[in-house]
Amino acid sequence: MGKGSGFGKVILFGEHFVVHGVPGIVSAIDSATDAEVTQTGKKLDIKDERKAAKGYAEEKRLQQIESIERMLKKMGLDPKLPLKIWVGGTLPGFSGLGASAASSVAIARAIAEELSLKLTNEQVNQIAYEAEKAYAGNPSGIDNTAATYGGLIWFKKNLAGGPSIVERLSVRKPVEIVIGSTGNVANTKAMVAGVAERKNKYPEKYSQIFKQAENLTYSGRKALESNDLKKVGELMNENHRLLQEIEVSSRELDLLVDIARKKCAFGAKLTGGGGGGCMVALTPGKELQEKVAVTIEKEGYEVLRTKIGVEKL
Ligand code: PMV
Repeated sequence: MGKGSGFGKVILFGEHFVVHGVPGIVSAIDSATDAEVTQTGKKLDIKDERKAAKGYAEEKRLQQIESIERMLKKMGLDPKLPLKIWVGGTLPGFSGLGASAASSVAIARAIAEELSLKLTNEQVNQIAYEAEKAYAGNPSGIDNTAATYGGLIWFKKNLAGGPSIVERLSVRKPVEIVIGSTGNVANTKAMVAGVAERKNKYPEKYSQIFKQAENLTYSGRKALESNDLKKVGELMNENHRLLQEIEVSSRELDLLVDIARKKCAFGAKLTGGGGGGCMVALTPGKELQEKVAVTIEKEGYEVLRTKIGVEKL
């Protein structure tokens, strides 16, 4: 049996904009997806035991099968290879946490171990990027990069198809965050396509918003590198406003953002594809984290208490 893991992530700055070449900042979180793979000689058999939002597994089932076929093809293997795959781990199947990328990285590593293939992280990342196309249509590559390498990453997609810019950033120490799940499963592919469509339809409006998003990511990098967490939070709030403007937020996401800010989170925004999925609040220190988390739970939403800037699985 082969085993593998992949990090979950939150995007601190730049989701959606990153698909179009704007830089983004992503952080792995200390929750991961684990996979185990055995060659059986029968048919593809996937057992998905991740804790997930209601309907997540069903909604993603076909995309998951396509992602595995894409992955096998990219590895130079038969896309219909009969594998028994188990998926689990501490990362819940909530939309927005890079659960698809984390599972692709975990499965790719487990397949490689089962078949005694030696894969570098770079190869794992490329295989997971190929798999991500099944879930996101035109992915930026930010999710699989975070899922593969962990840590805090500056990412800029190369729109010409060459290697993207990936730089490791550092924070003084991992910082507590609260992730609130709306409980709504989101279709990343449809969300990404919707932004592209509106960007074409309203070029002037969107180019202004995209410029602001770019400036914001640069400011976010500066604030993170100087450990100015208050500033990071303010910029996250600003980022949420831009995401509202490109119509990827939702009533529940805005509600979770409001609750977190009222309880003194340094900042809060939707994270990932939006349209459902998750909100991330920056809550340095256990006490603030607990205060925000408990309030969201009391409103009936599930939360994940975790940290950004985590490097080891
Ligand atoms: O919702 P998630 O976790 O799949 O994140 C999607 C992030 C996007 O920026 C919307 C898409 C991408 O590929 O970068």
